[in-house]
Amino acid sequence: MDKQAFQQKILIWYENNKRDLPWRKTINPYHIMVSEIMLQQTQVDRVIPKYEAFLKAFPTIQNLAEAPTSQVLELWSGLGYNSRAIRLQEAAKVICKRYEGQVPKNRDALMNLPGIGPYTSNAILSFAHNLSFPCIDTNIRRIILHELKLSESTSQEKLYVLAESLIPENRSRDWHNALMDYGSSILTARKTGIKSLTTQSKFLHSRRWYRGQILKMLVKEKETTVQKIAQQLEKSSAEIEDILEELVKAKLVSVEQERITLP
Ligand code: ADE
Repeated sequence: MDKQAFQQKILIWYENNKRDLPWRKTINPYHIMVSEIMLQQTQVDRVIPKYEAFLKAFPTIQNLAEAPTSQVLELWSGLGYNSRAIRLQEAAKVICKRYEGQVPKNRDALMNLPGIGPYTSNAILSFAHNLSFPCIDTNIRRIILHELKLSESTSQEKLYVLAESLIPENRSRDWHNALMDYGSSILTARKTGIKSLTTQSKFLHSRRWYRGQILKMLVKEKETTVQKIAQQLEKSSAEIEDILEELVKAKLVSVEQERITLP
């Protein structure tokens, strides 16, 4: 599908299916910043009441900067990862001191704030100012990989360049909202089989652990079989064969008929 057809498909779908979310009713950069930091760790449904209560208590960035940290944490309770709340308040203090209470509209300045990384910086620029900075969350990464038929190992750098090139002119805000909704309701992880980066990294971690265990067994026993390894590591033979294939490719293990040895 060409770029324009893809953009049309997503934007038309969004016109008919958009979710009504409180942070979509504002372009106040401070409010957007609060919503994005909350949404990084918690599901939309659970964020909504917390977002509303937080902004009722601290409607301006000055209110947040001047509040007792204990009150900030109290309003954050239920969202988890309290360190994010503390860093959000620190960012508010820096913004009040250095930028007269205006959230910077500049990517480098945003990235230098406590707790604000590339994703959050771009989300603020896109949602508050409609600027064409790609926001690549789990959903958007999955859509791009799926639509462009890319491997899950595609680098962040490549994804960034592609995501940037897909943003329709002057529609960054709608585009990102549309992709987030499309990804969470239509092109889900279950449907595409594309794992989130955290799932993927846990998966890779566990593979590395199993490879290590197999090598350890071989050092000790010199020779073994798939069945023996499977039994000892409590995995299926198919899974062990899969992991062995990586070891053989890396020339760390030899397989001859049924015999598995070190090379
Ligand atoms: N997840 C992160 N940012 C979001 C947003 N603006 N809307 C919906 N889900 C999100």
